Amino acid sequence: MAMVLNVSETHPAPPCSIVILGASGDLARRKLLPALYNLERCGEGLLPPQTSILGFARTPMSAEEFRTSAREAVTTYSRLKVEEECWASFEDKLDYIAGLNQPDGFKKLRERLEETEKKRGAPANRVFYFSIPPEAIRDSIERLHEAGLIHDPHDKFFSRVVVEKPIGHDLPSAIEISQTLNRYLDESQIFRIDHYLGKETVQNLLVLRFANMIFERLWGSRNISHVQITVAETEGLGTRAGYYDHSGAMRDMVQNHMLQVLTMLAMEPPVSLDASAIRESKLNVLRAMRPIPLADAARMTVRARYAAGTLDGKTVPGYMHEKGVAPTSTTETFVALKTYVDNWRWSGVPFFLRHGKRLPKRETVIAVQFHHAPKILFNRSANLPPNVLMIRIQPDEGFSFDVMAKRPGLGVAISPVRMNLHYETEFGKDVSPDAYERLLLDVMSGDSTLFPSDTFVHKSWEFIQGILDAWKDDTRVPMREYPAGSWGPDDADRLIRADGFEWLDP
Ligand code: BG6
Repeated sequence: MAMVLNVSETHPAPPCSIVILGASGDLARRKLLPALYNLERCGEGLLPPQTSILGFARTPMSAEEFRTSAREAVTTYSRLKVEEECWASFEDKLDYIAGLNQPDGFKKLRERLEETEKKRGAPANRVFYFSIPPEAIRDSIERLHEAGLIHDPHDKFFSRVVVEKPIGHDLPSAIEISQTLNRYLDESQIFRIDHYLGKETVQNLLVLRFANMIFERLWGSRNISHVQITVAETEGLGTRAGYYDHSGAMRDMVQNHMLQVLTMLAMEPPVSLDASAIRESKLNVLRAMRPIPLADAARMTVRARYAAGTLDGKTVPGYMHEKGVAPTSTTETFVALKTYVDNWRWSGVPFFLRHGKRLPKRETVIAVQFHHAPKILFNRSANLPPNVLMIRIQPDEGFSFDVMAKRPGLGVAISPVRMNLHYETEFGKDVSPDAYERLLLDVMSGDSTLFPSDTFVHKSWEFIQGILDAWKDDTRVPMREYPAGSWGPDDADRLIRADGFEWLDP
């Protein structure tokens, strides 16, 4: 039996009411309800019986209809199968109230919460999950406050607010959202969700780096030539034009998910595993990131959008022909960029980031490429490839390390051999909780380790804002096109080749 070291245990959430604002929307259906069901299903009492889950939205619907649609959503999207006994106890927790857009909606919400808490003998602990567009945040927080639904942070009961990305559209709007939230809430009551931080393999970055002496000793410019982070998606726009056409790849993925991954990979060892220590170490990476000046934008960034092409044998339309895209749209669906973390450890090491929709396959992967062996001994005449550590975040979770080995035989022939950890083979199928399961449990438990701070959000916007400013003028960094089903425009290859590297495929 393999040794298992339990560094921290999973504890059941304290009894509380979870109010989902925007409960009839896509996020609630695809992610939140299935995640909450899985917490119920885990069979460890992670959701105590006094818990209630109250959908709150504009759509008129009875509680019964909400339960029926929740069942359908859970059946379709849940990691674990619906089991009748478990469903019965989950369903018992579900309730719904319309009125998010009505003048007395929040008053009714308060009455319903108090009624439910009394009936269940539950404490007045409340989590308000804002599954609503960013422009609705201000109004909702003010109305929660007016309805007396936000406790003082020192109260014996907690009230916590969860906000989804995008937090803002640019730096000024992100600051405005923070100011609104800070007016009514203490920082300890605000949980900004970046679901990438809830992914098992992203959390495993910390374990890989700080539970293994071998990697930490090698981690930095002395041994590493460059780092690549690729988030490739096969999906196109789908039905999200209303949001995406105003956002684009840089705001949708790079500003949040990709910078989170980069900071986890590049951070210094935190002084402890406390939320504040980890957040501080990550923030220091952002502080050290070299801004991309206007003059360098063309050399260091690429933007593009997909044209019609073929994916999985099917012809798919180009971005400009997707439903809901403005004819004058200048939104990018692909980004590649080069950046540096100007600190002692990473001085001179380029970090290449690449993300796009309608690429040939779905994969999120980090490639850490080491320097070439010196041109002596085995490498004198051959051109030995460098060692590469590939960290596969999804979907084929795990990591591999390519090392050189002598092929069996009388001569000396060398080839790269892959050491591979495949999560599924090692730990079993479907054992990784979905990111939202982890994060929802953390909100209920009050653990903010995996949630970005407001300073992190502002700093990441600051970095991105420089690029967005350079992109305002179409002539500086022209919008390229790439056929759907390809790895993006040629400019992305030129960007990395300029430094003598190639994009690596796991
Ligand atoms: C979301 C973005 O935050 O993350 C989507 O808005 C993107 O555009 C999604 O597709 C990717 O998440 P995942 O977990 O599928 O990699």
